[in-house]
Amino acid sequence: MSDATMATTGSTVDYSGLIPNNIDLNSDARVRKALETWHPGYIDWWKQMGPDGFQSNPVYLRTAIGVDPDGWAKFGYVRMPEYKWGILLAPPVEGRTIPFGAHKGESAWQEVPGECRAMLRRLIVIQGDTEPASVEQQRHLGRTAPSLYDMRNLFQVNVEEGRHLWAMVYLLQKYFGRDGREEAEELLRRRSGDADSPRMLGAFNEATPDWLSFFMFTTFTDRDGKMQLEALAQSGFDPLSRTCRFMLTEEAHHMFVGVTGVGRVVEATCKAMRTAGIDDPTDIERVRALGVIDLPTIQKKVNLHFSLTLDLFGNEISTNAANAFNASLKGRFREDKLADDHVLTGATYPVLRLQDNMIVRQDVPALNALNMRLRDDFITDAAGGVQRWNRIIDAAGVPFRLLLPHVAFHRHIGEFASVHADPDGKLLDAATWQKRRDEYLPSAADGVFIESLMRPVYEPGTFAPWIAPPKTGIDGQPGDFEYVKLHD
Ligand SMILES: [Fe+2]
Ligand SMILES: [Fe+2]
Repeated sequence: MSDATMATTGSTVDYSGLIPNNIDLNSDARVRKALETWHPGYIDWWKQMGPDGFQSNPVYLRTAIGVDPDGWAKFGYVRMPEYKWGILLAPPVEGRTIPFGAHKGESAWQEVPGECRAMLRRLIVIQGDTEPASVEQQRHLGRTAPSLYDMRNLFQVNVEEGRHLWAMVYLLQKYFGRDGREEAEELLRRRSGDADSPRMLGAFNEATPDWLSFFMFTTFTDRDGKMQLEALAQSGFDPLSRTCRFMLTEEAHHMFVGVTGVGRVVEATCKAMRTAGIDDPTDIERVRALGVIDLPTIQKKVNLHFSLTLDLFGNEISTNAANAFNASLKGRFREDKLADDHVLTGATYPVLRLQDNMIVRQDVPALNALNMRLRDDFITDAAGGVQRWNRIIDAAGVPFRLLLPHVAFHRHIGEFASVHADPDGKLLDAATWQKRRDEYLPSAADGVFIESLMRPVYEPGTFAPWIAPPKTGIDGQPGDFEYVKLHD
């Protein structure tokens, strides 16, 4: 069997052409041409807006070689511009039916249903826009990497976000004709944080100025990505479902990088405090003098990144979300595991809302509250990460707990955008908020302090003092493994 025929079976990736794929691109001349036309622009974008520096250094990266859950990736040294970005879909599920919405029970669609073309395109473009955005946001971090291990993890996340862009561009070019090609061009044109042509969603225009922000971003914002992909993996449009299912395989590592990253920062702080005999975690000056990040400042970073990420879930009450669900395009988190009618007419869901300047819980039609349901599932998922951090703090015997702030805290979208609240959800007047803001969110001075710690450490097996080494290496490699070859 040739590589190309194996590719049609869906589990092996065909690397013989310019674009690795498991969709038999060789026999789809139109889409292959569209992708090959898009390719140079992508490489230009990567070189301009991808990692700043290190483009010619061999990095120990994983590359997908198949889409079976076991053994889908191989590890090896790759120069990033030569990474095999490809089009990979999870294997088709025999006889898959649509799990929810008005078309529940029908055979999953292999083509775009005409009446929801615009809505589907919009969902794909919004997801697609976040992928290159995070690469842009993180592009300077290699310069201050606290170790080669961390640098490699950053670049792994970056190349995979690049592949996620490819995944969405494939769907646009294969199923949306000329409009799709234009959208694919636009995805390379917008820039994170650009005043004239920003990325589509707020959190993807924020800066990621330091490594603690990177770890928070991968903990929280990549987890929003996971939730969105989970909801789209349920889609009645089967190519979208299969694409998202494979993306989720990669996404798990991004959250691992985030949660273990913050955990290692917390660990270094607690250890330094113990060694120095500091019992009071709020004695910020003394803790900082040890060259580690004090726990209250880590809490502020949690507050910032968690609240920015909540905005990504959109309005509490949303007819767009209801329409996408009714149209069987975007489901709920693990829709196929839920035990209800999957249509939701007449069902209700409790939502926190603002009423007469008070936060109240209100039962609203479940269809209109789908954003909140996904957000609640996100919060439960994120709380697991925070628990792991607290176990590290507890084990060190430090009297401190990291907490997720209230959903009304520091919001720019939805019910609570018009008010100020503290991290416990207590409403504050504007003057009090102004006065206390720096207690809740990283201040300029906090930023200056953290930046002062961001000094690169490029010796294999060595780590910046503000972050503990990981428990194990990537791909079982030993502690002093050279994850990025800087002198090659
Ligand atoms: Fe992604
Ligand atoms: Fe990600």
